[in-house]
Amino acid sequence: MSGPDLRRAAAARALDLVEPGMRLGLGTGSTAAAFVALLGERVRGGLDIVGVPTSEATRAQAEGLGIRLATLDAQPELDLTIDGADEVDPQLRLIKGGGAALLREKIVAFASRRMVVIADGAKRVETLGAFPLPIEVNPFGLTATHRAVEAAVARTGCAGAVRLRLRPDGGPVVTDGGHHILDAHLGRIPDPESLGAALWAVPGVVEHGLFLGIADAAILATARDGSADITILGSLT
Ligand code: 5RP
Repeated sequence: MSGPDLRRAAAARALDLVEPGMRLGLGTGSTAAAFVALLGERVRGGLDIVGVPTSEATRAQAEGLGIRLATLDAQPELDLTIDGADEVDPQLRLIKGGGAALLREKIVAFASRRMVVIADGAKRVETLGAFPLPIEVNPFGLTATHRAVEAAVARTGCAGAVRLRLRPDGGPVVTDGGHHILDAHLGRIPDPESLGAALWAVPGVVEHGLFLGIADAAILATARDGSADITILGSLT
């Protein structure tokens, strides 16, 4: 079983949660894209839902599949958001933002009655932090904000480099909201709540990739004997 097979298996399980008439948050990344692809097939078969995409990439994919879309302003309350994650811990705390969409992903998930994560089982960790924590920052005063983020990280007992995320051509990554991303390479985040609060206290920080108390469940697919074994963390109902 390859990574794409596992992502598709998790996405297929999440599709079982979709009911006609639902208002759905559509996540970003390769696993969310697998879900959107399967959802597109159901829509072609007559399923009526409305989706709110968490990125321009997801918007383009969903539009191409004929999925009816709305803005979050038109649909400010959603029934369910399905999205991927970079790490999931046993308390359903997440690191997200590997695809630089964390701000819209968090806004959409927060506006949803339920958020269900879909991921390859390799994303499950005991302690968050091996994946670099994405922090979305305003371009204004970037150097000052970068230093303040480094100080906030150190104050909360974390250690490691904080680096501006760059594109292959060397320029800084620009998010859909026109911001930049600082990636905090921390190894371990012993107290995600303290770190999240410390980051929010830095004025140039727009949002951070710690999703704390937001996800209701995670569908994790792991290869076993040539097929995908699904583990559910939390409750799908
Ligand atoms: C994008 C995200 C993605 O959900 C996360 O990076 C996981 O992506 P993938 O499913 O491709 O592993 O947070 O900002």
